[in-house]
Amino acid sequence: MDRTFIMVKPDGVQRSLVGEIVTRFEAKGLKLAAARFEKLPEVRVTEQYQEHLTKPFFPSLKQYIMGGPCFLMVWEGRNAVAIARKLIGATNPSDALPGTIRGDFGIDIGRNVIHGSDSPESAAREIAIHFRQNELVTYTRIDESVLYEY
Ligand code: RTP
Ligand code: MG
Repeated sequence: MDRTFIMVKPDGVQRSLVGEIVTRFEAKGLKLAAARFEKLPEVRVTEQYQEHLTKPFFPSLKQYIMGGPCFLMVWEGRNAVAIARKLIGATNPSDALPGTIRGDFGIDIGRNVIHGSDSPESAAREIAIHFRQNELVTYTRIDESVLYEY
């Protein structure tokens, strides 16, 4: 099974979208492995967005992510990273298709509601930034035997 790191950003939290977003991941069939509600310290924002440190938008991205509490999650399932990116939609909510989280709930690229890892390698790196190994819960979801063919 694959894991992905998902985070409802401060705008998503303030707009009371946490429940709706969790529901979408649950309904898809992904399994919650870990969750935490917190304001991210600067060091973890910088680690999280390492690839963007030199980009012109980084200072405003950091200010945005540190502007309020976030809801951090790890979701598990076959092909979880790619599935989550599809549920989330395009980076710019104005381009994101209806039916996706960003397509349904956002307008501006700098307020795009949610983060999702972009590859299995990024997912492993990001999960390790935010969660200790013993915070990842292993269990069987009762519908797994009908959710997967094999
Ligand atoms: P994320 O990492 O947050 O899931 O988003 P993403 O993969 O779809 O997009 P990415 O290229 O990794 O960008 C990270 C976040 O930086 C902000 N951004 N602003 N103003 C801009 O041009 C711009 N470009 C990116 C967005 O919040 C984006 O989600
Ligand atoms: Mg990204």
